[in-house]
Amino acid sequence: MSTKISNSSLIGLLVQLQICFAECGSSPTTGGCLASTASSTYSSFTYEQESTDRYAIPLTSPLSLPTFAPAFDAVSTLLPTSVVYTTYSLNRSATAVDDGLYGQSAYAALWVSLTYSQEPPFTTTASPTPVATSELIFPPPLPARPLNEDKSLRFPCDFIWGAAASAWQIEGGLQAEGRGPAVFDAIGSVGTVGMNDSNVADMSYFLYKQDIARLAALGIPNYSFSISWSRVVPFGTAGSPVNTQALEHYEDVIKTCYEYGVTPIATLMHIDSPFGIFDDMDAFPEHFLHYAKEVMTRFADRIPIWFTINEPNIAVPYVSRNYNIFTAQLKAHAEVYHWYKEVLNGTGRIATKFANNLAVPLDPTNQSHIDASIRYQEFTLGIMANPLFLGQQIPKAALQTPGLNLTALTDEEIKFINGSADFWAFDPYVAQFAYPPEEGYDACISNSSNPLWPVCVGTGNTQSNGWLMGAISDTYSMIAPQYVRQQLGYVWNVYKPSGIMVTEFGFPQIADSEQELRVQQFDFERSMYYQNFLTETLHAVHSDGVNVIGALAWSWIDNNEFGNFGHQYGMQTVNRTDGLFTRHYKRSIFDYVDFFHNYIAS
Ligand SMILES: *[C@@H]1O[C@H](CO)[C@@H](O)[C@H](O)[C@H]1NC(C)=O
Ligand SMILES: *[C@@H]1O[C@H](CO)[C@@H](O)[C@H](O)[C@H]1NC(C)=O
Ligand SMILES: *[C@@H]1O[C@H](CO)[C@@H](O)[C@H](O)[C@H]1NC(C)=O
Ligand SMILES: *[C@@H]1O[C@H](CO)[C@@H](O)[C@H](O)[C@H]1NC(C)=O
Ligand SMILES: *[C@@H]1O[C@H](CO)[C@@H](O)[C@H](O)[C@H]1NC(C)=O
Ligand SMILES: *[C@@H]1O[C@H](CO)[C@@H](O)[C@H](O)[C@H]1NC(C)=O
Ligand SMILES: *[C@@H]1O[C@H](CO)[C@@H](O)[C@H](O)[C@H]1NC(C)=O
Ligand SMILES: *[C@@H]1O[C@H](CO)[C@@H](O)[C@H](O)[C@H]1NC(C)=O
Ligand SMILES: *[C@@H]1O[C@H](CO)[C@@H](O)[C@H](O)[C@H]1NC(C)=O
Repeated sequence: MSTKISNSSLIGLLVQLQICFAECGSSPTTGGCLASTASSTYSSFTYEQESTDRYAIPLTSPLSLPTFAPAFDAVSTLLPTSVVYTTYSLNRSATAVDDGLYGQSAYAALWVSLTYSQEPPFTTTASPTPVATSELIFPPPLPARPLNEDKSLRFPCDFIWGAAASAWQIEGGLQAEGRGPAVFDAIGSVGTVGMNDSNVADMSYFLYKQDIARLAALGIPNYSFSISWSRVVPFGTAGSPVNTQALEHYEDVIKTCYEYGVTPIATLMHIDSPFGIFDDMDAFPEHFLHYAKEVMTRFADRIPIWFTINEPNIAVPYVSRNYNIFTAQLKAHAEVYHWYKEVLNGTGRIATKFANNLAVPLDPTNQSHIDASIRYQEFTLGIMANPLFLGQQIPKAALQTPGLNLTALTDEEIKFINGSADFWAFDPYVAQFAYPPEEGYDACISNSSNPLWPVCVGTGNTQSNGWLMGAISDTYSMIAPQYVRQQLGYVWNVYKPSGIMVTEFGFPQIADSEQELRVQQFDFERSMYYQNFLTETLHAVHSDGVNVIGALAWSWIDNNEFGNFGHQYGMQTVNRTDGLFTRHYKRSIFDYVDFFHNYIAS
């Protein structure tokens, strides 16, 4: 219920209050309680409509940007002439023949151990339909007081905001149009248990036109997506054929972005490295560069920002105990960086994305907890960021962990890697508490069977006084905005990048997927997460001097969280049972847009 107060009655009220302060201040109080200063009155009751229809403001289209590299015609000579451009199609009933290293039979053999119980329900690109006006009405005001109490704070006018997703998590059609298998394709395949079928995900491989139209209709200006390496190069390796259907697909994704006014931001590898690509680690940089060149010569003229590898800092320990893969990935990243800047003459920006749920000491007065936090951070960020941002060696903590066999970088390697990121791209979902292992460092570090080895730091989200750090979600993310400034401040002050872009942040509400549509759409907690996180980010900018240059939400759509469709990070729902994979906006996407409309300098 809102009360309407006119200027004159407001002045009257203020006068009344002043009189009361003057009088009540000196008058005796009852039991130490000051008498109420509000004066009660009766008047006639009237209903007021609290909800007015406010509509989303779409992007202006088409997009007009300067070019960021020469057009393909001018740089096609940079590609090796020996590469074969072809198409593949998986036919399991075809008899295998010996058609060479890269023939159709060889392609089918890549897939021999992977089948899926669900086939994509349609296999042609759907035409976009205009988003119905009825879908573009803002929800009622957030049921909480505005969180940004300082209305004067603003992000700079060139702040890059938008939303992100990745190929494997939204595309579906894993075996469609000549795609080769990637490392996570076993998830949800026949024979693996307890996982949803990854072969459909959000069917965005066929629905991308509508997906981009829906972002534009809400006025979301930047779309961070990833290109599937094994679609473009089905066999993955340097010198192996390029699948023209994949090139055409991503060409059209970018073209569609421009048509609708959405700025495309592209990632080259988002957890979906081609199957077996790390078997020969030393050859990894060469394989990655082969793929990157094919993509960048064609698309770099229209892509202002590239991310090479998504979250290698946590992906490597997740898939292998061989930490020298970090070096292979750093070299691969730096190769692409140098080629883009110095050979292709790209003028856009490049970075690699870091994940980090900042370790903060569980007991900040206890030196061993502080040491544990620093050790965690040095493993999680320092191994890659020391050479990349500081031109320094891998931290001693990692090099000196017995049995880890991590080889120090040579001076030449450091020189090549140093500075090969134009800003810090950061996915800081939440913070966590850190403490030393119960059995002590020495016992843990010298025992590679210890589940905490090699980092040997305990982590959790419960404060030492028993309270949780914040409101929990379906996975690790929490609403704990009190640590956002430290999350950004750690990176800013330790690695001194020119700027930090928050390239993922988000929150999967508990049991979201079990609710009916209307309830899922009113995703209040997700909005709270974003509003709080962004408000604290504004404080990091204005009070702590951190140069935050952008923010990209994870995600604009519920997606495949590694075989789980229940952990919903999306600001849109997907109906995976209606045959059409219909999307619906949730309230968080409106609140997210509103935040930037209110808090970006004009
Ligand atoms: C698959 O291979 C079988 C056997 O050679 C052939 O009969 C069939 O037409 C092929 N299917 C497609 C879609 O090419
Ligand atoms: C991202 O969004 C901002 C804000 O609308 C826009 O000015 C900018 O052109 C977009 N792209 C990049 C790369 O900044
Ligand atoms: C890139 O710039 C260098 C130096 O100006 C020039 O020699 C080279 O031809 C350019 N390459 C392309 C592909 O335009
Ligand atoms: C510091 O933390 C360690 C590990 O949790 C603990 O063993 C030790 O008692 C703590 N020291 C103090 C002074 O609290
Ligand atoms: C490090 O090398 C030793 C000796 O070759 C080997 O036993 C151990 O498994 C290696 N550690 C890792 C993490 O690969
Ligand atoms: C790393 O790059 C910075 C900035 O270009 C430079 O000042 C520094 O000397 C470099 N360090 C090494 C070890 O190459
Ligand atoms: C090493 O850690 C494992 C797993 O925690 C444990 O079972 C084993 O006893 C430890 N070995 C030593 C020597 O402490
Ligand atoms: C599969 O996805 C549904 C939501 O669509 C979810 O409820 C279920 O938990 C998921 N199953 C697994 C094994 O992750
Ligand atoms: C998904 O679509 C089916 C079929 O139209 C419908 O019965 C179901 O309620 C929808 N689910 C949600 C969560 O909207």
